[in-house]
Amino acid sequence: SWTTGNIVEEQVAAIREQVGDKRAICGLSGGVDSAVAAALVQKAIGSQLTCVYVDHGLMRKGETEQVEKDFVAATGVQLKVVDAQERFLNALAGVSDPETKRKIIGREFIRVFEQAQAEIIAEGGADVAFLVQGTLYPDVVESGGGTGTANIKSHHNVGGLPDDIEFELVEPLRQLFKDEVRMVGQELGLPDEIVQRQPFPGPGLGIRIVGEVTKERLDLLREADAIARHELTAAGLDREIWQCPVVLLADVRSVGVQGDGRTYGHPIVLRPVSSEDAMTADWTRMPYEVLGRISTRITNEVPDVNRVVLDCTSKPPGTIEWE
Ligand code: XMP
Repeated sequence: SWTTGNIVEEQVAAIREQVGDKRAICGLSGGVDSAVAAALVQKAIGSQLTCVYVDHGLMRKGETEQVEKDFVAATGVQLKVVDAQERFLNALAGVSDPETKRKIIGREFIRVFEQAQAEIIAEGGADVAFLVQGTLYPDVVESGGGTGTANIKSHHNVGGLPDDIEFELVEPLRQLFKDEVRMVGQELGLPDEIVQRQPFPGPGLGIRIVGEVTKERLDLLREADAIARHELTAAGLDREIWQCPVVLLADVRSVGVQGDGRTYGHPIVLRPVSSEDAMTADWTRMPYEVLGRISTRITNEVPDVNRVVLDCTSKPPGTIEWE
């Protein structure tokens, strides 16, 4: 029978067998999946693993600092932080199509990992041959890798990978759902701040800007997202809500009236959803007062935003993320 202890033991053995005495790198995104994958691989091969955190500039407020602090404190893992903000922004310039964005982000991740690999080798490490990813079962299915399913989105670590990838992949969570991943994380002794985190996609805020991704738009969305997250946490809704994407409709403007007069700004969409495994979801009937507080704060505090709207669509027909 399947117990979390079994899964850990089995995967540790499988990882040792696959990696042998070679080295591996693991991309950390700040999310649950990559954290648990990294902890599992570390348990299996210890110092043969180096974690790489790519700061692609598509992160939320405070996220990079949190990974540097919390994850290293919890696991003692070797961490390399790569500042790749310019690289990703340049690659995304002029691109609005969602799947193109996803492919570009997936490709740039791999290019940064290859660079990190070269640096580790130059520092005297042995050949790095393996790339650890926190791919889950639903990622595989929804990227079209499962049997008989349509290709809905290219997840950054499945359908979004370039063809000329130099690494062999290690994906110890490929058969698991999110709740199982959380149990494995607990079994491995990761703290609640990591294990109970709400999901956040690898492509980050890049797929939460409908339209072209620019530095200004990212800064704006980061502010709006930080306000929404703060108010949701303060209202005690973090467990009830599976996740709440905050989306900037950068290609849409509407007329408003603020301060001295007319504005012509962008809408922000709130997308609170309740779900068991992200394969299906319902929109969360959250309290109007909290929605009102978030709306007031965002329109007051975030420049160029004059409207906040609620996405009340289930999945299906809507997906959780807008892109
Ligand atoms: P959708 O939008 O497909 O999202 O309903 C389902 C779940 O997956 C997350 N998501 C991603 N996670 N890389 C990830 O690591 C990705 O490319 C990606 N795309 C979507 C999304 O946040 C939701 O939890």
